[in-house]
Amino acid sequence: MKVVKENIAEILTDASGINIEAQKVEVSQGDRGDFSYPCMQLTKKLEKNPRKIAEEIKEKIDLGDTDFLDKIEVAGPGYLNFFVNRSEFGETVEKTLSTDGMGVDKRDGKVLVEFSSPNVAKPMHIGHFRNNVLGDALQRIFRFVGYDVTSENYIGDWGTQYGKLVYAYKQFGDEEELEKNPMEHLFHLYVKFHKEMEQDEELEEQGRKWANRIENEEEEAYGLWKKFREISINYHKNDYERMGVNFDRWTGESTMLEETDNALEEGVEKGVIQRDNDGSYFVEFEDLPTTVLRKADGTTLYLSRDIANLKKRKSVEGFDYNFYVVGSEQSLHFKQLFKICERMGLDTDGCEHISYGLLSLEEGSMSSRKGRIVRLSEVIDKAVEKAEEKISSEKAMKNAEEIGIGALKYANLSVTKQKDIMFNWDEILTFEGDSGPYLQYSNTRAKSILRKSSETPELIGEFTDDEFKLVKKVSQFPETVEQAVKQREPTKIANYLSKLCEEFNTFYHNSPVLKADLEDKKRRLKVLEMFEKVSSKGMELIGITPIDEM
Ligand code: ARG
Repeated sequence: MKVVKENIAEILTDASGINIEAQKVEVSQGDRGDFSYPCMQLTKKLEKNPRKIAEEIKEKIDLGDTDFLDKIEVAGPGYLNFFVNRSEFGETVEKTLSTDGMGVDKRDGKVLVEFSSPNVAKPMHIGHFRNNVLGDALQRIFRFVGYDVTSENYIGDWGTQYGKLVYAYKQFGDEEELEKNPMEHLFHLYVKFHKEMEQDEELEEQGRKWANRIENEEEEAYGLWKKFREISINYHKNDYERMGVNFDRWTGESTMLEETDNALEEGVEKGVIQRDNDGSYFVEFEDLPTTVLRKADGTTLYLSRDIANLKKRKSVEGFDYNFYVVGSEQSLHFKQLFKICERMGLDTDGCEHISYGLLSLEEGSMSSRKGRIVRLSEVIDKAVEKAEEKISSEKAMKNAEEIGIGALKYANLSVTKQKDIMFNWDEILTFEGDSGPYLQYSNTRAKSILRKSSETPELIGEFTDDEFKLVKKVSQFPETVEQAVKQREPTKIANYLSKLCEEFNTFYHNSPVLKADLEDKKRRLKVLEMFEKVSSKGMELIGITPIDEM
């Protein structure tokens, strides 16, 4: 708990005469007290050996002046180990957790979290699952720490591929089929078009023609494009609803067209963007590949639209942070984007590409052009099916969806975002440890005990070792959330929750609650209450739904 670290740091500062920061105070491992400070950090400044420094500091501290420390020991090559007064510590933790922010520093600032951003006419695939889970957790965490967050789904709804789609529909489409199975039909057309194109290059040209027609808002082309866009959005909404993911706004590349033209002209004027003889625009870099921003036929590109979009978010809408949650395969894109914007003199402070690695199944990979993709909805279906196999009680069956999805979310978030992940269905659906179901299970168990008792939880008597270990783990919640914020890494919270539940289960295994003596019972109920509070909030922050029955 930060308050406690701050107190210790203050005592250390007074005793050593050197300003010692709270974050240098560590949570002890094993039985070396509760917190420690490595005096090795002071050897240079004090020009003494660390063991000696530790001894001298200890001499200067008068434990009579503080309520919250019981004992200080010098250990090893120069550690100061602090033993807190358990009751005082428990009270502090309990008080801190009952505040709104639960001990987490409040931040302010306008934050844009863009995530998901799927393309039109294709169902979301397994890679989007990782994106959605990560982006959603980030929006939840940023909001909790006080930022004014806007989450945005910036869909890929513009470009020559939609000309191809309109053409494919006119060639091979079926109105009835489009009514009945809209997304299936669009995806089928998409795949068919690419297959046909391999034989007939003329198709490419047709696609371009229809893309122009969409761009010029000609009735038929534009109408179909709009319809396909609508179909896709409705289809995606279903997936988001299942995942419990919400956006504050939906935008798309097609909303940026005018601004894009303006931004490109601005870039040309400023000498950042160059014009080629054929009329196309491009940018050269010292250390990155050259990129085109306007084709010879006048059409703009994905990257061009992002330039205009960045400018809008930063200069017009005034976001302090502009986060893009997008897979690592687009890191070059974002490097180029930020570089171009910087050169144009746009404000790029707080613009960050939050990237993540690949997610795959043991079953194999995908290629959407050939129609082989693992759909997001299939992945969820499979997880839910597996959850149903594992659930033993009738009553818990209604929670299979939440358990399956929780398992998937946890499996994504328990691995740092940069790393690739390969799913193993049995591992992610275990109820035993380090899994989504394990978090839900522990939380459910704590709640059920709390429900069964009519006693008022209260911090009285002395904590046992197991109780206190759990209290200490609970106390690390605020700093864990802060790490997650600083590193844009929900994994910090996921891993913390897993350890927290382990501690809970040890406690629960060793300490009867309902059958204990009144004093022990009241105290243990309080410990359970603190655990429940932190575990529920933690799960909420990573988008895993607590459930009532497992
Ligand atoms: N629609 C793009 C895709 O599916 C992702 C968009 C990412 N966001 C952005 N501002 N470029 O690959």
